[in-house]
Amino acid sequence: GKVAVLLGGESAEREVSLASGYAVLEALLDAGVNAHPFDPSERSVYELVSEKFDRAFIILHGRGGEDGVMQGALEQLGVPYTGTGVLGSALAMDKVLSKLVWSARNLPTAEYRVFDKQSFNANECEHILKDLGGVVMVKPSHEGSSVGMAKASDAKSLASAIENAFVYDDNVLVEAYIDGPEYTVAILDGKALPSIRMTSPHVFYDYDAKYKTDTTEYFCPSGLPLAQESELGRLALTAFEALSGKGWGRVDVMRHQDGTFYLLESNTVPGMTKKSLVPKAAKQADISFQQLVLQILAKSM
Ligand code: DAL
Ligand code: MG
Repeated sequence: GKVAVLLGGESAEREVSLASGYAVLEALLDAGVNAHPFDPSERSVYELVSEKFDRAFIILHGRGGEDGVMQGALEQLGVPYTGTGVLGSALAMDKVLSKLVWSARNLPTAEYRVFDKQSFNANECEHILKDLGGVVMVKPSHEGSSVGMAKASDAKSLASAIENAFVYDDNVLVEAYIDGPEYTVAILDGKALPSIRMTSPHVFYDYDAKYKTDTTEYFCPSGLPLAQESELGRLALTAFEALSGKGWGRVDVMRHQDGTFYLLESNTVPGMTKKSLVPKAAKQADISFQQLVLQILAKSM
């Protein structure tokens, strides 16, 4: 069949999506698939029907592509697509709703407060910091790739971090900082792949640490003792499925120095660039990039 690789889009992660998308496209073409790039910010999705595409490989990151909007359009058009459906995409794109679902399921996630642009009052910052343990992460509720994120440990920098996050989102999450290394677990067809541990000399694993610099170190296998590795894998899979995740994805987790894991977020269209994490985890599980891409495509529905 004829496959559209949906890439680009209009979110803050457009550049990442282009890099991911062309990597996926190249792998599909190498495997002999009749695949074509399709940038929904330049073309109408109706062309998927008029040009007789049989399925869509969604490699759009962020709002408009990873949040259920595109998934809903494809449902309406009757075009099968890869990965998670409408509800699961919308849930995972919203960090606050994700935390609410996880808390209801007794899955561990850091304490937090939510602020909206209309009613935020900078005088609250002192008090918020104290409540959340003195060091916090500020995050737009619906972004990816650490866009708009900052770490803060005094009231003044917290206020400006929140104001800056409002540039990206009307809802901003302020989360207690978990002091420990970050781990990530790729999910493929109902299984957790080997975990990866990241360390970066940056203040946190930010946009530049993800895509621009070569100073981030990746450990896969992550070095966790076997029992903790299986605990982490089970946690990630449960967290992914709790948000109605389907097919493939990636769950990000912090490990506190006391050994406790805290869920950060679930990604339903994780990065597939040369520096990205899911391909690294797949490689550790003896799954090549091409096999990974074909396996994701095979489960489209
Ligand atoms: N949001 C980026 C693409 C990721 O999760 O990999
Ligand atoms: Mg994300």
